[in-house]
Amino acid sequence: MKISVIGCGYLGAVHAATLASMGHTVVGIDVDAGKVDRLARGLPPFFEPGLDELLRDGRTTGRLTFSTEFADAADAQVHFLCVGTPQSKTSDGADLSFLVSAAEALLPHLARGAAVVGKSTVPVGTVDMLRGILAGRPDVPLAWNPEFLRQGTAVKDSLVPDRLVYGVEGGKAAAFNPATGAPRAVTAALDAVYEPLLNAGIPRLVCNFATAELIKSAANAFLATKVSFINAVSELCDASGADVTELSEAMGMDPRIGSRYLHAGLGFGGGCLPKDIRSFRSQASALGVGSVDDWMGVVDSINLHQRSRTVDLAAELCGGLAGRSVTVLGASFKPETDDTRDSPALDVAARLAAAGAHVTVTDPKAVNHAWMRYPQLRFEASTERALEGAELVLLLTEWDEYRRLSPSAVGGLVRRRVVLDARNVLDPAAWEAEGWTVRGPGRAGSTVRLAEIPHF
Ligand SMILES: NC(=O)c1ccc[n+]([C@@H]2O[C@H](COP(=O)([O-])OP(=O)(O)OC[C@H]3O[C@@H](n4cnc5c(N)ncnc54)[C@H](O)[C@@H]3O)[C@@H](O)[C@H]2O)c1
Repeated sequence: MKISVIGCGYLGAVHAATLASMGHTVVGIDVDAGKVDRLARGLPPFFEPGLDELLRDGRTTGRLTFSTEFADAADAQVHFLCVGTPQSKTSDGADLSFLVSAAEALLPHLARGAAVVGKSTVPVGTVDMLRGILAGRPDVPLAWNPEFLRQGTAVKDSLVPDRLVYGVEGGKAAAFNPATGAPRAVTAALDAVYEPLLNAGIPRLVCNFATAELIKSAANAFLATKVSFINAVSELCDASGADVTELSEAMGMDPRIGSRYLHAGLGFGGGCLPKDIRSFRSQASALGVGSVDDWMGVVDSINLHQRSRTVDLAAELCGGLAGRSVTVLGASFKPETDDTRDSPALDVAARLAAAGAHVTVTDPKAVNHAWMRYPQLRFEASTERALEGAELVLLLTEWDEYRRLSPSAVGGLVRRRVVLDARNVLDPAAWEAEGWTVRGPGRAGSTVRLAEIPHF
């Protein structure tokens, strides 16, 4: 099948490459000529485990090409819209202008009967808006196929997703011929695209447009709620002397609760969760559903509060930040990606610098992305060099290589053995045995008292 993928960022590049690996002929279209140039040469424009191999394979087989020209998508039978839907600059709602431009640019090149399928995360009503743009083409069916991949495991998530969701006109009732049970037009086209996944038993849910538009935001809102819940409880632990890591471990053993996303720390960031919960809020408010609006407002503010909590704790550990040399481990918004969009680590690093600290940031993959956006910070690619002379070490993104750091080796590099483990991933006992003071959110009960920290 010939398929086009419009928008080749973290979602689209992976989607295009995995579809090609399933045997389809795929053209990726993007307005960013630099990105297209790299992708066309088989080079990922960002770090995503496994993507480089898929791009190389797609190039070798000739099934995967990239272009800035929408005309190159003209003979595709299915077009996936994967452009960004960032937070609007003027409100909490999503900015749909990239989606509108992409649909308008695609319109003159649509072959008769080709399907247009959205994958971006969008608010309810987006399909109606796009239908307006495609009004002159009643032969072109629309569908919404929200994407649930996670950066860092995006290739695996695309090849073995938990589920496929198809939002179609009229929902499930209209998607199949009642006499034969055979799927109609756009559902059949999507089944053909995902045939290898369906054959492997991946569940497929067919629903109406509003449901498909809401599912992704609702899923992200739930995950964000879980993170903010345990972060709020971590404050309670600090206030009471309880240990949030032991508490969440015990809570997570209840299968009704589950341990994933129940880990207290610096909170979430990135290009999706924060803007998705704000968009969810704004949709709820527009639809007059105050409970969801209020709920998401609290989840968002608890999340942002973790960043101020971390800065306050850093100031406490240093006896004031002015003039202190601090090292920040991690710049990406989470491990296994170089994405620094709304990175909690960089936000905290910038606030430390604004408070007068001399901040050195290091990261295994994201230094190049980060330094362009934060010129006030010093970046260092080598972990060892970044740690030299530090009076406080902050672990802000839980890359494996930071989890595995040796407290004695790091102790030989720093000026003071004080670590703020804002992701609660270090073993405090092992670090304290090497003379370190270890602090983390919700773990006040298990650490050395502040008064014992030597001052220079
Ligand atoms: N990143 C994720 O993990 C993830 C997961 C699921 C869903 N999503 C959703 O997918 C969408 C894209 O997210 P992303 O992280 O890939 O964003 P991104 O910013 O990495 O990629 C968007 C791409 O679209 C391109 N683009 C913009 N306007 C265009 C146009 N008119 N025509 C062609 N290309 C255009 C940009 O140049 C960019 O390469 C968002 O709605 C996001 O919420 C993202």
